[in-house]
Amino acid sequence: MRPKSRKDTTVGGGQPHRDAKITAPNVPSDIGTKIVAFAASNSKKSINKRLAIHAASQIAKAAVEVLDLNDYEMPIYSVEREEAMGIPEQALEFKDRLRWADGIIISFAEYNSTYSSAFKNIFDWISRIDRNIWENKPMLLMSTSPGERGGRTVLDFAVGSFEYMGASTITDFSLPMFSRNFSEEHGIVDIDLKDTFSEKLHKFVSSIENGRAGHRTDDALGQLAR
Ligand SMILES: Cc1cc2nc3c(=O)[nH]c(=O)nc-3n(C[C@H](O)[C@H](O)[C@H](O)COP(=O)(O)O)c2cc1C
Repeated sequence: MRPKSRKDTTVGGGQPHRDAKITAPNVPSDIGTKIVAFAASNSKKSINKRLAIHAASQIAKAAVEVLDLNDYEMPIYSVEREEAMGIPEQALEFKDRLRWADGIIISFAEYNSTYSSAFKNIFDWISRIDRNIWENKPMLLMSTSPGERGGRTVLDFAVGSFEYMGASTITDFSLPMFSRNFSEEHGIVDIDLKDTFSEKLHKFVSSIENGRAGHRTDDALGQLAR
């Protein structure tokens, strides 16, 4: 049983979540592209969070909400808990944020070749709200790690499964050896990786624009920050 009532936490209409990082605060949300970005990690020093924020920051005229999985900590999912307590408020709030967005950016931490427990728990809970987990939204799925594979295993797994879980389109990018290939000042420093990243980001923004066809005449593709 779900809670009978809950506060409306939808952040559409320009009302950001308390932890929102809005990169373009003066752009009304009916004009700016609404992006939800998060790392699938609960590490306070998450390198994936840095990558997710970087990607979102490259989309001009975007209202960006960065989620922190620590704000959505819930009991470990179990069928019995769901029967006893319904869907936790945090899962409903998380889902509201996905609904608000025009596009979703996730960067995955790879833990033992799969999702972090923090992400998996949220994922399991929100899958009980609606099987259309990703709300028919375009998704930019990324991963990074200190190693050479850049979290490619977990990323490939997410890409292969999210298409059956309500992602309208999926664009993916993996950044190997984070500390060598990323700097706060310059973003992705390796030229080839940077080119690939830009191409993928354009594709993601293009998917959002196609989904919002007719909503505005200016093309965010031409607006991508260089
Ligand atoms: C429990 C645990 C398991 C890990 N397993 C993997 C792994 O399978 N593959 C990998 O590339 N890195 C692995 N790592 C290293 C992570 O890639 C690294 O900690 C990275 O910083 C995690 O991303 P985050 O900083 O965004 O949380 C693991 C780290 C931990 C703590």
